[in-house]
Amino acid sequence: MSEPLRVLFVTPEIAPWVKAGGLGDVAQALPAALARDGVDVRVLVPAYPALKAVFPQAAPAAAFAPAAGELADAQLRLADEAPVPLYLLACDAYYDRPGGPYQSPENQDWADNHLRFGLLARIASLAATRGFGAWQPDLIHCNDWQSGLAPAYLAGESGAHAASVMTVHNLAYQGLFERAQLNALGLPSELHATEALALWDRISFLKAGLLYADGLTTVSPTYAREIQTPDLGFGLEGLLRERNDVLTGILNGIDTDTWNPAHDPFLAERYDASRLEAKKANARALRDELGLAARDDAPLIGMVARLVEQKGADLVAAIAPALVHDGAQLAVLGQGESRFEQALSALATAQRGAIAVRLGFDEGLAHRIEAGADLFLMPSRFEPCGLNQLYSMRYGTPPVVRRTGGLADSVRDPDEAPAGEATGFVFDAPEPAALLGAIRRALAAWRDPETWRRLQTNGMRADFSWDASARAYLEVYRRAIAARDAARATARAG
Ligand code: ADP
Ligand code: GLC
Repeated sequence: MSEPLRVLFVTPEIAPWVKAGGLGDVAQALPAALARDGVDVRVLVPAYPALKAVFPQAAPAAAFAPAAGELADAQLRLADEAPVPLYLLACDAYYDRPGGPYQSPENQDWADNHLRFGLLARIASLAATRGFGAWQPDLIHCNDWQSGLAPAYLAGESGAHAASVMTVHNLAYQGLFERAQLNALGLPSELHATEALALWDRISFLKAGLLYADGLTTVSPTYAREIQTPDLGFGLEGLLRERNDVLTGILNGIDTDTWNPAHDPFLAERYDASRLEAKKANARALRDELGLAARDDAPLIGMVARLVEQKGADLVAAIAPALVHDGAQLAVLGQGESRFEQALSALATAQRGAIAVRLGFDEGLAHRIEAGADLFLMPSRFEPCGLNQLYSMRYGTPPVVRRTGGLADSVRDPDEAPAGEATGFVFDAPEPAALLGAIRRALAAWRDPETWRRLQTNGMRADFSWDASARAYLEVYRRAIAARDAARATARAG
């Protein structure tokens, strides 16, 4: 048997322990799926307090001092009792803090994020050149701007090293810093001299990854096309067009154990496609939990999202009164920008019993909304993949989505799909009227039990597992390794 491929998956968050959004879910599920396919995959993640608490026994694996530039010293600890072995990158000066992975408890970006994630990327690049002890990856898989500098560190290496793949989960987050902040990072000097990392009037960690990685991916085929246009390219569309021969869109899967209504420990009552009546009990419990009026006859509409411009929370706020007028109830869970938090909270206050808004991060409530709601809203302005629409389909809760990115790739509207294949409702214009129109079409379908049951079961039976996507990543890894070899051969010949 040939040696298994060794892959280091580099991520700033990992569910269920440290999660700000969908990247955390992907970092939990994709490596596990790759391991099932025979890949020797390990994860590199900063040792935040939550991870130190869960893995107190993690054994020392290597020490780096000083890693590069002015970056602090770091130790690696290996937690191999985890489902996929985790390298915890310990550097208390950077990571042992309260708050989220990127922000303080007051939702302010940490002022030293360039160092915190410069270090993560630097250590990933050292895995690529020297390995972590006896374990040397064939490829490092970087995710988002937080590990974007790793391929740039490798660009300065003349010796043999692992290949690299960069995945964009969201191009809107570019890891922008001041030029002067580069000085602390010990990057190859050519990168200082050239305009390579410049974006707008700053420098971008994400751009570094997009420039230098051997392979690029993003999290849906439609988003892979969209980011090559000025509308959604955020200034990087030219670079992405130049490198589109190595850019692949792979739709995310979901963790079908964590998100399974038949076994979900967070639910009032568990169910599957043959026991859909149990959704009623979940709806009742949800109304009760959120202080919504006990109205079994009213359609209950749910939303769980980071409350930022991307997610279209303002569109929902704009039409919420009309939904209430139509007799529906609305349950929203989210946190984010205060303008959206305030607008939604004001609606909940004005329409007590009909609109409930919970601000904060609450994993259990997210599951209960997926299970208890009749309909799920995702009116995103853009959406690289989106996981909540996949969770909602799996929970028999047809989603209403805007036609963009992974939403366009995963939800099929009855107006466009054969009856046996429709799973939700899709609209185009990022405007309140278009969203309201789609919700009204959905509510009309909801009033017809047979039509509705078919939509629910179509979604519940669809395959959103990681299996196919993990195989697509394997193919990307192989191509990236071949591209690295070809580049090395050219360099030697020159
Ligand atoms: P994004 O990564 O852009 O936020 P996704 O749909 O890919 O969007 O993933 C969001 C993930 O974060 C989902 O697992 C969702 O349930 C979860 N999530 C978002 N906001 C909250 C919240 N306030 N409480 C609990 N879970 C949340
Ligand atoms: C990002 C995107 C989201 C995607 C997630 C995981 O946060 O906004 O669409 O599902 O990453 O890839």
